[in-house]
Amino acid sequence: MTDPALQMTGVRKVYGSGDQEVVALDCDELTIAEDEIVALVGPSGSGKTTLCSIAGGLLQATEGTVEVGGRDITELSASELTDFRRTAVGFVFQTVNLVPFLTARENLLVVDELGGRRSRNGAKAKERADQLLDELGLTDRAGNLSSELSGGQRQRVAIGRALMNDPALVLFDEPTSALDSKLGDQVVKLIRDEMKSRGTAAIIVTHDDRITHYADRTVHIEDGRITD
Ligand SMILES: Nc1ncnc2c1ncn2[C@@H]1O[C@H](COP(=O)(O)OP(=O)(O)OP(=O)(O)O)[C@@H](O)[C@H]1O
Ligand SMILES: [Mg+2]
Repeated sequence: MTDPALQMTGVRKVYGSGDQEVVALDCDELTIAEDEIVALVGPSGSGKTTLCSIAGGLLQATEGTVEVGGRDITELSASELTDFRRTAVGFVFQTVNLVPFLTARENLLVVDELGGRRSRNGAKAKERADQLLDELGLTDRAGNLSSELSGGQRQRVAIGRALMNDPALVLFDEPTSALDSKLGDQVVKLIRDEMKSRGTAAIIVTHDDRITHYADRTVHIEDGRITD
């Protein structure tokens, strides 16, 4: 049996202390299979971004165990976490965060360059970037600055960038909230196709119940607790 993409056990995240204490996440158990797409749905402030940030090694849990692709990331040092984020996970945020003065292709290649010593040779990375841009229907926009792209095109570049390092798990935090409903639908279909063709797991945070239609499973969260 292969390791799950994500295994969270007894994970709590507490902000502040004393009277100011906020329990942002209190997750007894969450397992996401190796190739599973999970929609994470819950009200504002329920802990969705906190959960994704912990799963992606951006934020340290107060207690509990987090394993990604069978690797326990709970006790990693800061530099090990940086390495983990670069090699094992992909992120797509609501606000796309492309580098505006780089082209679509360069926004993908920057992932490889940040990889430092571990970076593939440049030619291989270019090949991969072009293949991804092609799959995402962006070949004719590859040389355009990201500031010259539409909202949907930028979101697709962000998806390509998240896939550059062959992650075990991709975390999408409200990837469609800035898009109109038709474009949102297209982007979610695209996410599903890209994940399924690679057998990559994903968490898609959304307020949109239509999006859950494309997920294998929906997980509900309220006040930091998974309610299923
Ligand atoms: N840095 C922080 N310091 C203190 N409290 C925080 C911090 N970050 C988040 N919180 C609190 O933790 C809880 C969960 O926040 P989180 O951002 O995970 O919610 P969310 O489900 O992503 O909400 P939204 O749908 O609005 O994005 C909220 O009550 C929030 O106010
Ligand atoms: Mg959020």
